[in-house]
Amino acid sequence: MNLDDVPALARVDQHDTARILTEFPEQCRRGHALPAPVLGGARPRLIVVAGMGGSASGGDMVAACGAETLDVPILVHRGYGLPAAAVRDALVVATSYSGDTVEVLSAADVALARRVPLVAITAGGALGALADARGLPRVALPSGLMPRMALGYLVFPLLAVLAGCGARVTSAGEVDEALEVLAAQADELAPARALEKNAAKRIALNIGDRLPAVYGGPLTATAAYRWKTDFEENAKVLAVAGAVPEMNHNEIEVWRGPAAANRHIVLLREEGESAQIARRFELIRDLATPAAGGVSETWARGTGRLARILSLAYMSLWVSFYLAMLHGIDPWPVPTLEEVKRRLASR
Ligand code: PA5
Repeated sequence: MNLDDVPALARVDQHDTARILTEFPEQCRRGHALPAPVLGGARPRLIVVAGMGGSASGGDMVAACGAETLDVPILVHRGYGLPAAAVRDALVVATSYSGDTVEVLSAADVALARRVPLVAITAGGALGALADARGLPRVALPSGLMPRMALGYLVFPLLAVLAGCGARVTSAGEVDEALEVLAAQADELAPARALEKNAAKRIALNIGDRLPAVYGGPLTATAAYRWKTDFEENAKVLAVAGAVPEMNHNEIEVWRGPAAANRHIVLLREEGESAQIARRFELIRDLATPAAGGVSETWARGTGRLARILSLAYMSLWVSFYLAMLHGIDPWPVPTLEEVKRRLASR
């Protein structure tokens, strides 16, 4: 597949994912403008974001943005029920784009049973119905997207909900910067931008048939995990994600053997990373380059944490889109994931 052949891409991209991705900055603007519920009560001592897959990803990114400044812990809970620490002085944000994810519904049930304040962020489904029936505070999201492609609707309303309960993660200036950075990236990464000037196409081509291993630092490791899941859901390609420095204590060991030739490293860097982390990235490159199938590097954009993390997530959406195109795969449907949900529901 020639990634510059836009009509050929459109033939594989049967659900017009390229348009959804091109409109992503606008989606973020709309997500930022959505009305957030006003929460009464005291400032929470713990925030639990309950979500799975693409819907949990928004929680990861907000938690990473707040990690250095917010004095309230944000715990992203992926699974049934709720952790024991979620009690009445906490806030639970049940986040499910479809509103029908059973793990999130189970978390919401436990929150209600324990009388933990509960907010729903959803486009509808059973979670929307529960919020309506119980009069719960809710952010009503526009429907019609795949959850992982609705990241703007999952991040910005969550930021607004947290700001509304006294746990502000980002300033207005950081939000504006993130929106500007994403708008600039939309042009640079879209299918009409030729390979030589399109970093997302180049990374996808560099990966080719190899297994991608994505490594990030203290902030960007959250985006690395998002790259892994985008490769898996959009391109249907197994990927691994790791964090620096932790991977220097285990995973680094796999990069000198012959099998490394079938894998490709992607390093997620940021200008603000510390000298210690920068040194480790250089070491990974040095040690892995001789045996690895290749090493790519991409840098976060902007100065604020929100711009940095979202710019890497946006890059991930595009790289996984182009990798799907190279494999002749429509990035939109996830039939196996849906079959799991169907089979669980029928028991
Ligand atoms: O992106 C996807 O399609 C999945 O990872 C879903 O997000 C995941 O299955 C959970 O569904 P939902 O986001 O609707 O709660």
